[in-house]
Amino acid sequence: MKKAVIDAFNKVFPDGGDVKTYFAPGRVNLIGEHTDYNGGHVFPCALTIGTYAAVSKRSDNKLRFYSVNIESAGVIETSLDELKPSDEAGWTNYPKGVVWAFEKRGMKLDTGFDMVIDGNIPNGSGLSSSASLEVLTGFILRDLYGFDVSNQDIALIGQYSENNYNGCNCGIMDQFASAMGKENNAIFLDTADLSYEYAPIVLKGAKIVIANTNKKHKLTDSQYNARRKMCEDALAILQKSVDIKGLGDLTPEEFEEHKALLTDPDMQKKAKHAVYENQRTIDAVKALKAGDLDEFGKLMRASHESLRDDYDVTGIELDTLAEEAWKIPGVIGSRMTGGGFGGCTVSIVKDEAVDNFIKTVGENYLKKLGYEATFYIVEIGGGPCAI
Ligand code: GLA
Repeated sequence: MKKAVIDAFNKVFPDGGDVKTYFAPGRVNLIGEHTDYNGGHVFPCALTIGTYAAVSKRSDNKLRFYSVNIESAGVIETSLDELKPSDEAGWTNYPKGVVWAFEKRGMKLDTGFDMVIDGNIPNGSGLSSSASLEVLTGFILRDLYGFDVSNQDIALIGQYSENNYNGCNCGIMDQFASAMGKENNAIFLDTADLSYEYAPIVLKGAKIVIANTNKKHKLTDSQYNARRKMCEDALAILQKSVDIKGLGDLTPEEFEEHKALLTDPDMQKKAKHAVYENQRTIDAVKALKAGDLDEFGKLMRASHESLRDDYDVTGIELDTLAEEAWKIPGVIGSRMTGGGFGGCTVSIVKDEAVDNFIKTVGENYLKKLGYEATFYIVEIGGGPCAI
């Protein structure tokens, strides 16, 4: 990948100067979905797949971008004076948004840059290709321009740019997982205060398999922002009677005690998911630490069921993949991962069952949906780096 991105850079920008190369990972969330904007816990890990970049600083204020994955877009040229989101900017709204967000924090670039990217995260798969591009850009800006920011700052700046430049009101999970990733570890993050702990993922005799529905999703187009708003409205109602900062502050027992305050049944279901999913995430990490992978798998299933029945973000594609997976002997756990409405499931599958899992779930998905799902066996990788 490194050579490919450098070759592409030299071809597209033959006049480019000193070229440096970088990588930032995508992520998969093992459990804790739609909890990160509710002050709850998440448990994602960085992947060894992600986004690569070759970059060179310019002497003027131009910004030139090219993506090997979206060749048809060609070279997109703009400048530091034109940091405004636009449809024509396409994918470059992500790196431009990060430059804009650095400037908002008083870190102004003195010159522009040329950037070529090449990624191996399937686009729109819900494995955070956009967060990886944001973290990649933040890491590059720190390295090239000497800005004094930590990896955690890079995650927060990425989220800020996504919220305020790209219009998706996402939580911190994706950028945090990409910026703070650690090989063979998942990150148990409390989004209420950003305290976190690494938890080694030791899957003796099992693998993490991702299944892509191949249904494209785009969070800004979907009902993601609407879900978030409903949780905020539920919180405001509950706060009149309970002293909490987020739905993640409530235990399931406390929620049961106060849930009658939420008279809209749909709102009550959404809030219930946020509270119970947070508890499941805490319990899942406990089970993992105790070496109880079966319990972890059961909680993954309960998570999917809650996202399907209460939070209503799955759909026939994700449900088919998860429900077919649960039937296969040797599947420890399986659930949707990420925002939902398409994207991927994540499954923990015993080594000897992987082939049958891919074959059987794949066939049944094709039969039901009329097109194929794609499967990847993934590994947990580290955070962003120069390569
Ligand atoms: C998307 C968002 C995250 C998180 C998940 C759902 O991936 O970017 O912040 O809310 O959905 O858990």
